[in-house]
Amino acid sequence: MNLNELNKVAEAMVAPGRGILAADESTATLKKRFDAIGVDSTPIARRDYREMLFRSTEPMSKFISGVILYDETIRQNAKDGTPLVKVIAQCGALPGIKVDKGTYPLPFAPGEVVTEGLDGLRERLVEYRNLGAKFAKWRAVIDIGPGIPSYGCVYANAHALARYAALCQDEDIVPIVEPEVLMDGDHTIERCAVVTELALKTVFEQLFYQRVPLEGMVLKPNMIVPGKKSSKTASVEEVAEKTVRILKACVPAAVPGIAFLSGGQSDQEATAHLDAINKMGPLPWRVTFSYGRALQAAPQKTWSGKAENVAAAQRAFGHRARMNGLAALGKWKADLERKAA
Ligand code: 13P
Repeated sequence: MNLNELNKVAEAMVAPGRGILAADESTATLKKRFDAIGVDSTPIARRDYREMLFRSTEPMSKFISGVILYDETIRQNAKDGTPLVKVIAQCGALPGIKVDKGTYPLPFAPGEVVTEGLDGLRERLVEYRNLGAKFAKWRAVIDIGPGIPSYGCVYANAHALARYAALCQDEDIVPIVEPEVLMDGDHTIERCAVVTELALKTVFEQLFYQRVPLEGMVLKPNMIVPGKKSSKTASVEEVAEKTVRILKACVPAAVPGIAFLSGGQSDQEATAHLDAINKMGPLPWRVTFSYGRALQAAPQKTWSGKAENVAAAQRAFGHRARMNGLAALGKWKADLERKAA
């Protein structure tokens, strides 16, 4: 392991004013997204869609530090034959790869899942590194509901995350460690805070036991928000205040950066929350975005599978990337959204 090099990559992933584009939807998930815009999900359509994003040269080179790819995409070439990995690298962004194999039901734990994919992971990491991946992602999922999560579920997921992170570093790939507490339920913001604190404390304990040097990783957590079906909403300030409090209590300052997932927040909510969190600085780590839906929803809809919409879709992507780039600096303002509209 070359920790110096890992640290350099981790720092680059959270460089000021830049964040990560999560474009690692599985084929099944992207099919669902394509169904919603009436696009047939073929390998070529998936390639065209992602090429549209990666060839948004201006936002990619100004606001995007790295792109998380799916196994299919890291092997695909652009229409003109250039590997998509090269298209990304030409913009100065780092290619990354999702390496987990998704979630499976956890035995004897109704409603709970564990992320799998440790078997053969070292060999896959070597292959991905040879294909150009500089970092990887593994997503653990913790659901909140009546009686859940159990500690057994939190522990099993944290242990797998730590095993994954150690393997990545041993193969000179920076791990994104993603323990996602879902916002799907009807729980309060306070419950989200309690569960997220347990998840993060457990993850950092397991990272310590697996001897993962924190300087060579990036944390991808959820923000502290009420469940989507909760009757009580929270202000932007409350989300920022609670999120910063929990992160400060759980995340050692040795971690170079925190890149949030959007988790089902609206585009503008995800931006406003990130901005408010950064406005509470100085913080011990760089804090930015690693958004999937909150970066792609607008360009996806604009594109809708038509070549003639590519330029407009790239503008929509550029706008969201710029807004989130500003939020990563705590320099976003709501009227910048209205001006663009
Ligand atoms: P969302 O921002 O859509 O939550 O996706 C980010 C991600 O990579 C989830 O693993």
